[in-house]
Amino acid sequence: MAISDLQRSQHQSHSLTLVGVGPGDPSLMTLAAVEAIQNATVVAYPVTKDGGESIAATIASRWIDDEKKRLPLLFPMIPEAKPRKEAWKKASDILAGLVKQGEEIAFLCEGDVSLFATASYVLLYLKRNYPECSINLIPGVTAVGAAAAAAAWPLSMQREQLLVVPAPETSDELDLILEEAAIAGRVLALLKLGKRWIWIRSVLEKKGLLEKTVFAQRVGFPDQKIMEARFLPATAKPYFSLLLIRQGWPEVLF
Ligand SMILES: C[S@@+](CC[C@H](N)C(=O)[O-])C[C@H]1O[C@@H](n2cnc3c(N)ncnc32)[C@H](O)[C@@H]1O
Repeated sequence: MAISDLQRSQHQSHSLTLVGVGPGDPSLMTLAAVEAIQNATVVAYPVTKDGGESIAATIASRWIDDEKKRLPLLFPMIPEAKPRKEAWKKASDILAGLVKQGEEIAFLCEGDVSLFATASYVLLYLKRNYPECSINLIPGVTAVGAAAAAAAWPLSMQREQLLVVPAPETSDELDLILEEAAIAGRVLALLKLGKRWIWIRSVLEKKGLLEKTVFAQRVGFPDQKIMEARFLPATAKPYFSLLLIRQGWPEVLF
């Protein structure tokens, strides 16, 4: 069998595809993502409450035609671990059951499928409990990459490091992250900003970093906001917001 045939038959045997749909703008979906949705008989996607909207399904909506079965799966966003684990298990069991019945499933995931992604819980649970279930992953454009592009802001250059991390809970933690980043020449992407911006703003201000920080909200959506953090008042921001912080530039530029 030629390698291309082998690749094709391997691809055809995949019954569950975890699909990164990018951060918001449907034109940032990859061709592979669109193809996986078109080939699917069932399009599954996470919702945080019963009957709730799915950001991933909204992004991909123009590709989900009426003939496809839609399968919202509950992934609650709550701090308690037990109900979250039960929900991942339930969703994964449903997906594995459908694969067994011969359905072709595309499970949609906002942004990339491997970066702080709901799809990762499904992947790990299925690998452990349904090793026979064949799974294909399609990477997506990350919110961090899309925010940097929208701000025309280089993420990292030369020997610089990039740390993508959820925004910390305390100013001590943030101080430490910022100090270590300054020493290491590390650019920071702080996700899950939300209401933490209320206190993070004053930490950045004290350190003279507001001018060196980009704020990005709902990147890729029609109401996208990208701005220097110094123009942003200390009020709560939506869940879909992040900061990019660069404390210096590589010496080679000067
Ligand atoms: C659970 S993570 C998902 C990351 C996603 N899988 C990715 O690859 O970008 C959610 C966090 O990513 C960031 N995020 C995701 N999409 C975003 C968007 N369109 N605009 C701004 N931030 C976004 C926010 O910080 C949000 O709290």
